[in-house]
Amino acid sequence: MDFDLIVIGAGPGGYVCAIRAAQLGMKVCCIDSRATLGGTCLNVGCIPSKALLESSHLYHQTQTDLAEHGIICADVTLDLPTMMRRKEKVVSKLVKGIDYLMGSNKITVKHGQASFADNTQTIKLDNGQQLSGKNIVIATGSEPLAIDVAPFDGQQIVSSTEALSFSEVPAKLAVIGGGVIGLEMASVWKRLGSEVFVIEARDRLLAELDDDFSRTCTDIFHDQGLQFYLGQTVTATTRKDQQVQLTLNDQRLTVDKVLVAVGRRANSDNLGLDRIGVQRQANGMIVVNQQLQTTADHVYAIGDVVPGAMLAHKAEEEGVAVAEHLAGGIGHVNYQAIPSIIYTFPEIATVGLTTKQAKQQGVEVKTGKFPFTANGRALASGYHKGLIKIIADRRNDQLLGAQLVGPQVSEIIAELVLAIEYQASTEDLARTVHAHTTLAEAIKEAALACDGRAIHS
Ligand code: NAI
Repeated sequence: MDFDLIVIGAGPGGYVCAIRAAQLGMKVCCIDSRATLGGTCLNVGCIPSKALLESSHLYHQTQTDLAEHGIICADVTLDLPTMMRRKEKVVSKLVKGIDYLMGSNKITVKHGQASFADNTQTIKLDNGQQLSGKNIVIATGSEPLAIDVAPFDGQQIVSSTEALSFSEVPAKLAVIGGGVIGLEMASVWKRLGSEVFVIEARDRLLAELDDDFSRTCTDIFHDQGLQFYLGQTVTATTRKDQQVQLTLNDQRLTVDKVLVAVGRRANSDNLGLDRIGVQRQANGMIVVNQQLQTTADHVYAIGDVVPGAMLAHKAEEEGVAVAEHLAGGIGHVNYQAIPSIIYTFPEIATVGLTTKQAKQQGVEVKTGKFPFTANGRALASGYHKGLIKIIADRRNDQLLGAQLVGPQVSEIIAELVLAIEYQASTEDLARTVHAHTTLAEAIKEAALACDGRAIHS
């Protein structure tokens, strides 16, 4: 065998799996079809979007919020090419970091399209090269889901990849899908000056979350000037000069660009999986057991290509779990403690069960809410919209889940994730001393509110 482990895909799932396996003493090869490592996350996902979210937030904040602090900035102008170059520099720096890690862990890196030859332990590359591995991990990620009524053309009807690199601010931008990508990219271009229309099939945003929480989020984004078409779908698109006309259920919209963000599809075609007996679901996701083992011996799959949340950190955890399992350890991912963040402003962060999910599991719940309007740090900072909602088991007080919308909640949710990991109670959270003056004090208050004893509301 050429290698102990061959990992197909060098995104957060694949490269982390490769590094952990190398740490555990395996001889590892990692293959990716892109010229650069890091997958969607580093190249055209999490990282470039975060760079643009930060830059566009600063631009917008300078224009609209600084005067209230007594800081007057006249003639604030946008230099979009510089903003885009900065984003590219951030990406390039992180990609180089992965190159360095692969080298320092002595991982063989190959670039090319990989697929299974005629057995579960031989991989062929599109340049004809063949490699054998004792075990193979498929970490090929996902790609934007296309819809027939608005097919991608790379110019006017685009996916998130192109929407991260528009060369000018579209005067009018339609976003089909008010999910994670839809809300993040709508925020970027709205702040930079676009008029943005978000078309969402369901009758509210983030409908999978608790009704009261999802309503609060919808109101906040509505107040920011995003124009929502809820409970609507696009039935047709027509090109008109340099514009696109969208036909919705009962109206028409004419825009300069259309971003389609209606979900992503697992990348499992063209791997030769049928040849080697790896079963897939109708949506392309690879069927795996609790050890992330596919239906074929020696073949594992992790990340966006298997069922579950399509999140970089979930893929990383699965990568580590597989590597540890293969080394004879006990790989484990706690799927109840995976945070999910939308990096809008304010941010939205969730973990664990919603009230509805808990009830469906027969759990009697209690909830506690605390608004950021009553948090000193939020008021002092100048942004105090949003709230924290905590969901707990009424019988034993155990924390089950949390939903947060507000400033920097992507950071403060870590406390709640840890609490779920350690099966903490709301009493534990409430008794933990939180520094004053911090946004995290709102977590303690929300925990106290579960028993009707919040101090500041
Ligand atoms: P999503 O599943 O988050 O949202 C898609 C939205 O489109 C849903 O609200 C759905 O109801 C709506 N929709 C579906 N078909 C529609 C149609 N024909 N017309 C109108 N609305 C329609 O998917 P999204 O935003 O594309 O993101 C894909 C994946 O990438 C997600 O799983 C997400 O978690 C992940 N991601 C995570 C990020 C993060 O962690 N911050 C950032 C970006 C993506």
